[in-house]
Amino acid sequence: MPDTHTEALRFEHIVKRFGDFTALNDVSLAINKGELVCFLGPSGCGKTTLLRIIAGLEVQSSGAIIQNGKDISRLPPMMRDYGIVFQSYALFPNLTIYGNVAYGLVNRRLAKTAIRDRVTELLTLVGLADSGVKYPGQLSGGEQQRIALARALATSPGLLLLDEPLSALDAQVRVRLRGEVRMLQQRLGVTTILVTHDQEEALSIADRVVVMNHGVIEQVGTPMQVYREPASPFVADFVGRTNLLPAIVRENAELEIDGVRLGANGTPVGFRPGAQVSVFLRPEDVVVRGAGENLPGSLPGRIENVEFLGAVCRLGIRVEGIESQLVFADFSARGMLAFQLERGCPVRVTIPGRSIRIFPK
Ligand SMILES: Nc1ncnc2c1ncn2[C@@H]1O[C@H](COP(=O)(O)OP(=O)(O)OP(=O)(O)O)[C@@H](O)[C@H]1O
Ligand SMILES: [Mg+2]
Repeated sequence: MPDTHTEALRFEHIVKRFGDFTALNDVSLAINKGELVCFLGPSGCGKTTLLRIIAGLEVQSSGAIIQNGKDISRLPPMMRDYGIVFQSYALFPNLTIYGNVAYGLVNRRLAKTAIRDRVTELLTLVGLADSGVKYPGQLSGGEQQRIALARALATSPGLLLLDEPLSALDAQVRVRLRGEVRMLQQRLGVTTILVTHDQEEALSIADRVVVMNHGVIEQVGTPMQVYREPASPFVADFVGRTNLLPAIVRENAELEIDGVRLGANGTPVGFRPGAQVSVFLRPEDVVVRGAGENLPGSLPGRIENVEFLGAVCRLGIRVEGIESQLVFADFSARGMLAFQLERGCPVRVTIPGRSIRIFPK
């Protein structure tokens, strides 16, 4: 039995078809009270459709939505308990900022003084206490989204739905605002679903990330889980930069890539010799040493590509014998200078068995 003390929202076997096209295929999930969950996935995977179904703006073909233990599957949007913010600044252009935030409260026929107090409180909460008299057109994109957030929170909804609220903003504002959204969400304790296709955004603020692809959930987990223990090659590839190397399992749990043996590392448990697999490995887990340091199990290679990322450089290394693709490895920018590493330098690469994951091909 689901626990209504801790569970805020649950959807069960949601299917959504548009004609012959299945946009959501048997999606189920439970979300806890006060949790911030991110729906993360590529364009067209069904994130917005799922959010709209929760909001009642779209009707599922089958399946149920339970909020606080109550089946809301067929309730019209007006009867549901949520606030919503869209990607585009969907403020009413002809209303002042005050009028925008007050909108839902006026509809509820609250007393004028109660409305004024609440709007003042919300504008202060989003750091725009002095903007009440302005019109949306007089605010920046980031400010407009803060107001949209205030408007969504005005009636103290039990659920906050955010559909890519930050993606139209420039990078700096986006990063600052996502921190603010998270702080506000935690302070208010409001259960929140944030839709995004930006994996960094999802990893940085979510309690749990729901990775979606082609209308199904590929994985649900904490940011650390989906990053460190991806459940499928899709998740491994979509969440963070990764090496996905085609390999063959050999005897004694050895892996072979393009005929190069990586050495026994005990990882391919459950795979028969001869099995075709994909080896998943994060660039930060690849160990790079100078060409003179011939550690056991290390492979010779040459730096073919250097991508400067600030604190680290991402090296594209052509490992001898592995012709099909570069192996990406992160190396500290400081180390690059200290060891005078650059494009063309010979190196030795170690792929530690404990940090790789293996998927069937
Ligand atoms: N009203 C509709 N009629 C027909 N197809 C639709 C409709 N709404 C959505 N779709 C299709 O359903 C799929 C999922 O759409 P959805 O908007 O949920 O994607 P998304 O994950 O939000 O993508 P994005 O990141 O681009 O916003 C898409 O292939 C889309 O074309
Ligand atoms: Mg969308």
